[in-house]
Amino acid sequence: QHDRLMSPLLWDLAHVANYEDLWLVRALGAPATRDGIDDLYDAFKQPRGVRDALPMLTLGQALAYGDAVRERALDLLAAADLSPTSPDRLVRDGFVHAMVAQHEHQHAETVLAAVQLLPADEEPRLVVPTPPPARVVPPAEVLVPGGPFTMGTDDRWALDNERPAHEVDVAAFWIDAAPVTNGQYQEFVAAGGYDDRRCWTEVGWTWRQEAGLVAPQFWRRDGAGWVRLRFGRLEAVPANEPVQHVGWHEADAYARWAGRRLPTEAEWEKAARHDPATGTSHRWPWGDDDPTAAHANLGRDLLGPAPVGAYPDGVSPVGCHQMVGDVWEWVADGFEAYPGLEAYPYPEYSEVFLGGDFRMLRGGSWATHPRVARVTFRNWDLPIRRQIFAGFRTARSA
Ligand code: AVJ
Ligand code: FE
Repeated sequence: QHDRLMSPLLWDLAHVANYEDLWLVRALGAPATRDGIDDLYDAFKQPRGVRDALPMLTLGQALAYGDAVRERALDLLAAADLSPTSPDRLVRDGFVHAMVAQHEHQHAETVLAAVQLLPADEEPRLVVPTPPPARVVPPAEVLVPGGPFTMGTDDRWALDNERPAHEVDVAAFWIDAAPVTNGQYQEFVAAGGYDDRRCWTEVGWTWRQEAGLVAPQFWRRDGAGWVRLRFGRLEAVPANEPVQHVGWHEADAYARWAGRRLPTEAEWEKAARHDPATGTSHRWPWGDDDPTAAHANLGRDLLGPAPVGAYPDGVSPVGCHQMVGDVWEWVADGFEAYPGLEAYPYPEYSEVFLGGDFRMLRGGSWATHPRVARVTFRNWDLPIRRQIFAGFRTARSA
């Protein structure tokens, strides 16, 4: 375990298999693949900080367990009625299959966030490819007209907190056409934003003082400028890539420094998917087709963000770039239920977190699997969390 904030990688590995055993083996009527380990891999019974001391399965045992679970799950799925007319809601339309796949993808991203905590020069280093170049220069901001739009979804594979699709009236606002870049964020740093009390909320300022923050996590001073640590290597900070590894409080402070604010969750989603010309909300910013490498930086192929303007094919109807992929984007709101939320199939996925001290993140990152990164997906984390692949964009009322 590199850090008490993150699981030992071995825990995630067996937890993913255990979750699959719960939902694709036992929920489909078969006995447990391996007895006596549910408590070990229950995320609520074992907070991250204590996991390293657990009698975890070894790497070999965890891999063998995962293989055994997968084999049984595939057999059970082959016999299940996954059709849209199945009488069992859990398997209808393949819902629980998609839920388990998304769970594994989410943990794959969490594992990468733990790997990113490796100290400089420690093996294994990941080979980071060169991202595609910027193809256009996005405008500074775009205007989103006021009026109602459809937020959320009734998609068959959406998770409970994204449901139901419902209408929300959003007043006109301006929003950054692209995420805030390292270059822009560096101006905030250079202008003394971290030392300017006026930029911070009371809670944010207390945290900034206690944690001694001066820049995004993984940035190091290098003469007059900055370098960053990425997967064990120090490298120049590319000015035109979205900033990542900032907490909600830093995003909020930057926005105030810039004379702006974070978008609300509804504003973010409207800018990402609503087409004012047709009045419809799309599944993705560019329309309803699944993403390709031309639309968005997803699926951890690049191991980092691409420059702003690298995905003109992925622009939303109002002209926002890179709403999906590159970096998760902090928005203003805490985690609240949509009207009519029904916790399903278990309250620990979303319901128990509602109303807590969390802030929402939208749009997925370069590390998010395309099956998870749909534009309605709602992620949440503590406002002090920085090791996740999160940045932000800012907005202002029109
Ligand atoms: C939706 C990313 C906040 O990692 O805590 C993983 C996803 N739920 N296992 C988390 C999740 C159960 C969840 N987030
Ligand atoms: Fe989990």
